[in-house]
Amino acid sequence: KSGPMDTIVSLCKRRGFVFPASEIYGGIGNTYDYGPLGVELLRHVKDAWWSRVVTSREDVVGLDSAIIQNPQTWVTSGHVGGFSDPMVDCKKCKSRFRADKLDDARCPEKPSKQPGQCEGELTEPREFNLMFKTNLGAVESTSSVAYLRPETAQGIFLNFKNVLESARIKPPFGIAQIGKSFRNEITPGNFVFRTREFEQAEMEFFVPPDEEQKWYDFWRKARFDWYVEMGIRPEKLRMREHDKEELAHYSTATADIEYEYPFGWGELEGIACRTDFDLKRHSEASGKDLVYFDPQTKEHYTPYVIEPAGGINRMALTFLIDAYEEEELEKDTRVVLRFHPEIAPITCAIFPLVKKDGMPEKAKEVEKLLRRARMSVFYDEAGAIGRRYRRQDEVGTPYCVTVDGDTLESDVVTVRDRDSMEQEKVKISELPTYLLEKMDG
Ligand code: GAP
Repeated sequence: KSGPMDTIVSLCKRRGFVFPASEIYGGIGNTYDYGPLGVELLRHVKDAWWSRVVTSREDVVGLDSAIIQNPQTWVTSGHVGGFSDPMVDCKKCKSRFRADKLDDARCPEKPSKQPGQCEGELTEPREFNLMFKTNLGAVESTSSVAYLRPETAQGIFLNFKNVLESARIKPPFGIAQIGKSFRNEITPGNFVFRTREFEQAEMEFFVPPDEEQKWYDFWRKARFDWYVEMGIRPEKLRMREHDKEELAHYSTATADIEYEYPFGWGELEGIACRTDFDLKRHSEASGKDLVYFDPQTKEHYTPYVIEPAGGINRMALTFLIDAYEEEELEKDTRVVLRFHPEIAPITCAIFPLVKKDGMPEKAKEVEKLLRRARMSVFYDEAGAIGRRYRRQDEVGTPYCVTVDGDTLESDVVTVRDRDSMEQEKVKISELPTYLLEKMDG
């Protein structure tokens, strides 16, 4: 019997959430493409994050900075010198492993053995920098070397003054960004949990130094509560404070929001106190003043930073795993993804009961109405109605609308709820409002 992770991976492929990248060429290890449903899922996760962290708040603004910045950025941030993992190579099969995670690793040739306990001897550990290098322009030389960003955060620090001066905002305030980051991970794996190319959702919240603790407490709770609000089972979540040895070089305190994955507890998002480390370092290295002047108190100070940093792909995977259920019904079992309606790739499916009597035409009108209301919808007329419900349950569609005899007579449709499987009659003219209200709970 396959484990839950295998079940999720195969459902993702079969229904068009996630495909192995470059599959027709044999793939490119641990790299994935998102299909029609996957891309909607990612979009909805990003929208749900952005609406809570940016749009709904008067003290947070957005940013979209370049992936390739001046390489000095990464020298100053400490990534060129310090962003590395210790790594060992097997002299026999040339496989590469993280030296600090050998207990969890397996020899590719003898999977029952750990690396080093098989026939191959391991090299001494070496530090392996995780940043992807590239070259700017036509000439490859040391002066043309640039890096793909390993986090979106630094682009925010570089624009601190630009945003401060253009957005008429003052601490405490935040700058948020969603975008791709790249890390040459030695051991990617567990499907899309750890990949070399991924999307981050980060926010740097700049505060007066004496408000650090208050805002650290605030954002830890706000981010934890967001996952619960978005439907993650609270008993599968926990907050774990880092102890001193575990803290990154820039941080005085960090907490991870962890989820209990099929492979064990893992980090979903980190909330870190970064102090004034980044702004001060960039100010020293660039010679530019990155201090805030408070016109009311006439004080100059470098703000402290609280940073909630999560991964969009990891969030999407977590929503998938948590939503998955095989529900025993009276006669059979149904697979259902219990996504929060805001997260579900398709919000509403539309079916004509039968493919005749003008029902498909009427159903197409309903589809148009909902598309105009900017809803993610899907039209399906193929197969028995029960089968069509099950196909939508399996991808987590919260509502199915059926056009039947009543619709032709009196313009009412049947709305079926994914979780309760109960059905309700709704007037077509009231359908968009009805669905939006249901989505809001
Ligand atoms: N700016 C701070 C920072 O980047 P991080 O803990 O290294 O902190 C933040 O990354 C989040 O980004 C993680 O909690 C995780 O959700 C996601 N993430 C990091 N590396 C990843 C990878 N290789 N694949 C997928 N997601 C990753």
